Amino acid sequence: MNQKSDIVIVGGGIIGCAVAYELSKRGISVSVVDGRDVGGGATRASAGMLAPFIEGQHLEIMWTLGSRSLELYDSFVADVVSDSGHFVPYERTGTLEIALDKASLECLERAAERLSSVGVKCSLLTRAEAIAAEPHLGSNVHGGLVVSTHGFVNANALTCSLHHAAAKHGVCFITASEVIEISSHEDSVMVKTAGGTLLSGAAVLAAGSWVGRIPIEGVSPLPIRPVRGQLLRLLWTEASLARIVWGADCYVVPWSDGSILVGATVEDAGFDECATVSGVMSLLGAVCDLLPAAQGAGFDTVRVGLRPATPDDLPVVGRSAAMPNLVYATGHYRNGVLLAPLTARLVANLMLDGQEDPVLGEISPSRFGEF
Ligand code: GLY
Repeated sequence: MNQKSDIVIVGGGIIGCAVAYELSKRGISVSVVDGRDVGGGATRASAGMLAPFIEGQHLEIMWTLGSRSLELYDSFVADVVSDSGHFVPYERTGTLEIALDKASLECLERAAERLSSVGVKCSLLTRAEAIAAEPHLGSNVHGGLVVSTHGFVNANALTCSLHHAAAKHGVCFITASEVIEISSHEDSVMVKTAGGTLLSGAAVLAAGSWVGRIPIEGVSPLPIRPVRGQLLRLLWTEASLARIVWGADCYVVPWSDGSILVGATVEDAGFDECATVSGVMSLLGAVCDLLPAAQGAGFDTVRVGLRPATPDDLPVVGRSAAMPNLVYATGHYRNGVLLAPLTARLVANLMLDGQEDPVLGEISPSRFGEF
């Protein structure tokens, strides 16, 4: 194989597919290459949570990125479904974040004040109101916070839909073809894979945790580390939960097919993608504490994914200083699914229009050195 396209995307997870879809819609010829199948990395284990006001509450910039991306989600899903013809389960049920003690209730009170001050709709609930809102909660609940704009999406269905929509716009997907090396070749980028070489005007590195493992000529490996997440799928037998329930030690996403997803462990286990007894036990214990009726649920599966984390837990999106026709789109850590629409737009605007969104200054690879 010796293929030429305008842009090669290394990584066929949700970020790579979203970027491919966006670029191809704008008339660019794109190839996507991945050592696995499309969506076969961290994406396959994602609960598809869209909750920037919980996930981003400790990092101002995550809050900004997450809320901007959430605003794009309705039209993003509608466009992908319409272009691909593949249905994507997507719900904006809101979240109910639970406090199990006085100190965490005070944290929720502060969060509610902050959200209200910037116009985000939320309601702080007393213990009785929280139990009325979610009757399956255990008696240990102290109170809760509902954020009604939050939601969830089926990450695998969305990635599959992006794959089909991008393919309809002419994107060539090369899967099960590991990338061996990336180098410069005159004005082009050469991506050497197990199956042959791809030549392009530019490349996007969207290979999640694996970005730091791909040798790039003249460029040091980006400091990305894998953070393992185990996620359970249980078969809920009671009346369905009204919305995502977020507790101190787990979150629970209710699907309309009667299953719930319970996530997730946060583990430094290198590139080990095995499920573990202790991981499963900790999630089962946490969900039964939060929602005692989970004891009667059926056990379906455990999924495992490696979240790509950077030293400051923020994504890396922007041009490489060492190889300017190489663009990073990785390090999305706990929020790859949430940040996919915004990342796709930032990358396309940067590569095609030279548009430097101000937020790129905060998530550029250069904050870690000459990458
Ligand atoms: N976004 C949820 C997680 O990474 O577990």
